[in-house]
Amino acid sequence: MLTLPGLIDIHVHLRTPGQEYKEDFYTGTQAALAGGFTTVLDMPNNKIPITTQVLLEQKIELARQNIVCDVGFYFGSLGDNLEEFEKVTNRVRHPRPDRGSINNIGIDSRFRGNDTGVFGLKLYLNPTTGNFLINEEKLIKIYQAWSSNQPILLHCEGETMPMALKVIKATGKKTHICHVSSKEELSAIIEAKNAGLPVTCGVTPHHLFLTEVDAKRLGSYGLMKPYLKTQADVDFLWNNLDSIDLIESDHAPHTKEEKDSDNPPFGVPGLETTLPLLLTASSEGKLKVDDIKRLCHNNPAKIFNIPTDENTYIEVDETKPYTLNPKPLFTKCGWSPFQGKKVKGKVKTVYLRGEKVFDQGQILTKPGSGKII
Ligand code: NCD
Ligand code: ZN
Ligand code: ZN
Repeated sequence: MLTLPGLIDIHVHLRTPGQEYKEDFYTGTQAALAGGFTTVLDMPNNKIPITTQVLLEQKIELARQNIVCDVGFYFGSLGDNLEEFEKVTNRVRHPRPDRGSINNIGIDSRFRGNDTGVFGLKLYLNPTTGNFLINEEKLIKIYQAWSSNQPILLHCEGETMPMALKVIKATGKKTHICHVSSKEELSAIIEAKNAGLPVTCGVTPHHLFLTEVDAKRLGSYGLMKPYLKTQADVDFLWNNLDSIDLIESDHAPHTKEEKDSDNPPFGVPGLETTLPLLLTASSEGKLKVDDIKRLCHNNPAKIFNIPTDENTYIEVDETKPYTLNPKPLFTKCGWSPFQGKKVKGKVKTVYLRGEKVFDQGQILTKPGSGKII
């Protein structure tokens, strides 16, 4: 039995509010625990994007009642909400002594807790689910307006990467580049790091374990942004694992009905498959267990300033082979692009701040027992 710290996934889409038919805070955080993740950070591309403090507080309040692991949030922007930035960053990293000012903007007093709040600002430079795109002019204005120490996160794949790097260089703002998938993108990031730019990057398990060949086999169930790439791209990611800061699942559930439709949405679930895939790769000598700790715990905590607890840990059977279920246990979407894959590494138990919250496939804790971080 292998013991690991409770893992951190800094990139999930739990779809609430507005698209609870795809996932909700209860099912999504159950999937997190089942996958060995005790903390997740939720993206703002909801049906109504989370671009105001009021929307953020409403979302947090929905989460509070339903989560079984710890959850933090990102803020979003389309370039027209710059005045909201200070409200959400103040609220968050430095809780306001002047509570009255929060009331003045219409927030119910029960929202005024000691939550730590948003962990970054997420911007989309390419079309993807939710379609809240921004151009270079808006990007610069947003970068200048974001004064928090928490990173800006970018979806900037392929042709938008140069524009992103230009703005990062001009403003010097800490930036995390999400779901890097190609040799070209990772090379540009390595170059930027060498030049001293404050950039970090993440890769997803699907971009490490699937290629364009799988995309053909999977059809719309292998459709996500960025698209699956060539074997040469995948090899480049593996050969440069040291330059990758973290692994993020980009857990992006959509229903089978949507995936089977004429216009299938982008995205695949991932919370319940990340760790078995990585432990299987570790058993094959492709990375070390220490790399998994670095990529799924230490660096996520460090880069995003996430609280950790030594009594939050997981126990994993890393030796017994099994086949990934066609139906993952907990995600509402009920499918996985990795179904049928033979893996090693099954999460047996999860402890959250000393309390056993998951045991042999069973969630032992009630909705609302996770913490808003
Ligand atoms: C994500 C989603 O469905 O919200 N989809 C995806 O294909 N990755 C959005 C995103 O992360 O780009
Ligand atoms: Zn994205
Ligand atoms: Zn995403």
